[in-house]
Amino acid sequence: MIKLKSNDEIKRIRESGLMLAETYLEIGKLIEPGITTLALDKFARNYIEKRGGRPAFLGYQGYPSTLCTSVNEIVIHGIPDNYKLREGDVISLDCGIILNGFVSDSAVSFPVGTVSEEIARLLKVTEESLYLGIEQAVNGNRVKDISRAVAEHAGAFNYGIVHEFCGHGVGYNLHEDPQIPNYVGRGPNPRLKPGMVIAIEPMINLGTGDVRVLDDGWAVETLDRKVSAHFEHTIAIFENHNEILTGQNN
Ligand code: MF3
Ligand code: CO
Repeated sequence: MIKLKSNDEIKRIRESGLMLAETYLEIGKLIEPGITTLALDKFARNYIEKRGGRPAFLGYQGYPSTLCTSVNEIVIHGIPDNYKLREGDVISLDCGIILNGFVSDSAVSFPVGTVSEEIARLLKVTEESLYLGIEQAVNGNRVKDISRAVAEHAGAFNYGIVHEFCGHGVGYNLHEDPQIPNYVGRGPNPRLKPGMVIAIEPMINLGTGDVRVLDDGWAVETLDRKVSAHFEHTIAIFENHNEILTGQNN
């Protein structure tokens, strides 16, 4: 069931989303060769809790951390550890914040130092595909208009599109209906309405779109171990416009 939010509820999700955007702005400054993903996680938890927020992923279905830190061939749900970032890596960060009972969710992939042209293009196209999806997330359109916009852009570069994980409704809970796939499948295709709040999150790979879950039960990696990128925003749909509630990530 899709739960519509009132303007007052959207205001609260926006407050959570602003804190999330600020969190990313600060973490972005720390990303350089040598820093561990665990150090980024500790910083994020402290930053959020000091401001009265709660990390939405921490303890969610047993997830142990504030951030997902997914490096290179890890698509999503990488658990922070003692790995030190290296020049040329891609790190995809995913984070959610609960503030005053409302959740926001966003993700961004950062280059570590200088990356190859091939990787730089993957990051650019994945972010563009998010924004093309957001353009379609308007009153009267349907979920598959978003999915199509994302898939066509990523597909034009022959990138692999991850099918096993999707965007989602968000706000009261981290994951609500509807699902927002990054490809046009056979699933439900609800119409978008004012009051809907959704997270759109393309996961796009240099090679195959096929993935598997690692032995830790969380991290998702590309089957061919080629690099993956992930960008996500929480969006609110209004009568005549939409709004990104999680700020401009970079
Ligand atoms: N941000 C992820 C998503 O968009 C959720 C992470 S699941 C968690 O669906 F367990 F890591 F929290
Ligand atoms: Co999400």
